[in-house]
Amino acid sequence: MNTVARLILDKQYVLAQVDPRIYGSFLEHMGRAIYGGIYESQHETADESGFRRDVLSLVQELNVPIIRYPGGNFVSGYNWEDGVGPVEQRKSRLDLAWRSTEINEIGTNEFARWAKLAGSEVMMTVNLGTRGIDAARNLVEYCNHPSGSYWSDLRIEHGVHDPHGFKVWCLGNEMDGPWQIGHKTAAEYGRLAVETAKAMKWVDPDIQLVAAGSSNSSMPTFADWEATVLDHTYEHVDFISLHSYYGNRDGDTANYLAQSLDMDGFINSVIATCDYVKAKKRSKKTMYLSFDEWNVWFHSNEADKKVAPWMVAPPLLEDVYTFEDALVVGTLLITLLRHADRVKIAALAQLVNVIAPIMTVTGGASWRQTIFYPFAHASLYGRGVVLNTPVISPKYDTNQFTDVPYLESVSVWNEAEGELTIFAVNRHLSDALTLECDLGNFDDYQFTEHIVLQHDDLKSFNTVEKPDTVTPSNGGGGNQDGRSLTIQLQPATWNVIRLRK
Ligand code: AHR
Repeated sequence: MNTVARLILDKQYVLAQVDPRIYGSFLEHMGRAIYGGIYESQHETADESGFRRDVLSLVQELNVPIIRYPGGNFVSGYNWEDGVGPVEQRKSRLDLAWRSTEINEIGTNEFARWAKLAGSEVMMTVNLGTRGIDAARNLVEYCNHPSGSYWSDLRIEHGVHDPHGFKVWCLGNEMDGPWQIGHKTAAEYGRLAVETAKAMKWVDPDIQLVAAGSSNSSMPTFADWEATVLDHTYEHVDFISLHSYYGNRDGDTANYLAQSLDMDGFINSVIATCDYVKAKKRSKKTMYLSFDEWNVWFHSNEADKKVAPWMVAPPLLEDVYTFEDALVVGTLLITLLRHADRVKIAALAQLVNVIAPIMTVTGGASWRQTIFYPFAHASLYGRGVVLNTPVISPKYDTNQFTDVPYLESVSVWNEAEGELTIFAVNRHLSDALTLECDLGNFDDYQFTEHIVLQHDDLKSFNTVEKPDTVTPSNGGGGNQDGRSLTIQLQPATWNVIRLRK
């Protein structure tokens, strides 16, 4: 059966400018993300600082504007002072979050150096689990104050003359979760977060702060948590965070491909809560959303239970992503873009080895997982403004959702570059969709390319031996006649349809 879906585009209907930081990612001191991931001093590709050049070049391909660091759960037990100063004097510490040993060879200054090579800003997270105002304000002073104070002069003594100028800072991580070191109630966290925020901004008024929202929308305290935390912090922070991970746990692919509807509902609920607090406070300020942990995470759950404690860089959360996971990641990216008016920062969690688009063998090669591709395409072509595009699509129901559109789509217009890109996932598992686009006043744009990610086997994946099992290909022709463009979207595919002026 062939089904028809329609898109109607118009230059006047702009939803919002895409904040490039929506294509952020995350590197935590855990598993093989740092050690054996971005850093491996004995690796044949290592540069003079021990960073793997092969990994760096894959990160650069993804064009990631901002990277959250150093956690995650790790940060709630981290003393940042352990990671600065002469490396040979640094001590190993137990990381209680992941029951691993942290060797502290990489710390703030090394990571900042690597991020610069990657072309990324650093989004720092401060420890509000075991620590608080003092450690946080000292860290801002160490990183961002030019000189002439104890902590800024210590940075200079450590060989970093110019301040890092980190702009975005997270006030702790998932403080609502009982698994978090220093877990707090919303009121306890809200009070600590606001006082920490004030002190941090007194050190550097130019920073932007992210208050920790719920760990996910299934937490029993969601959305009371957001309401209470924002009640305390509203005028002192710039973002509230959202985290969410998805998985095909019961083998129901049609339902799995619909998980972006959950993300959509989560975002809408957080926006509603932010706006409730705004109304209550008669505030003029709009709170923005930082979706700073999102991805698929479930493949490695059982393997992780068998990992021995207190290892250095253990193989944790090493999900091997299938083709269907890439489709889900595509729908999640589209969902984030469709909320570009409120979601200004997002982070694909994570970047290397740990639930990541990039995998490595320690001492060996690196490769792109299936999810690498939709992220790379969105990051590369999804810059400009998001159009408010009506999507008309046939729908289906699953156990969890009703009215799931077979077509998930968003259009991004980069006027400066003369580019219009339509991202589209066909969720139908057996039928092609005929996509009819009414280009409206984009009739001065010409179809140039249709990139498609497809595979007959939804469970196919890439490995170090077979890194190209799932890779993008040319989707064939689009049929354009003036303002009307027709394209076939094969069943279960990620599609990037590019037009140029
Ligand atoms: O990204 C892995 C973990 O997931 C992070 O450390 C934590 O914040 C979340 O629960």
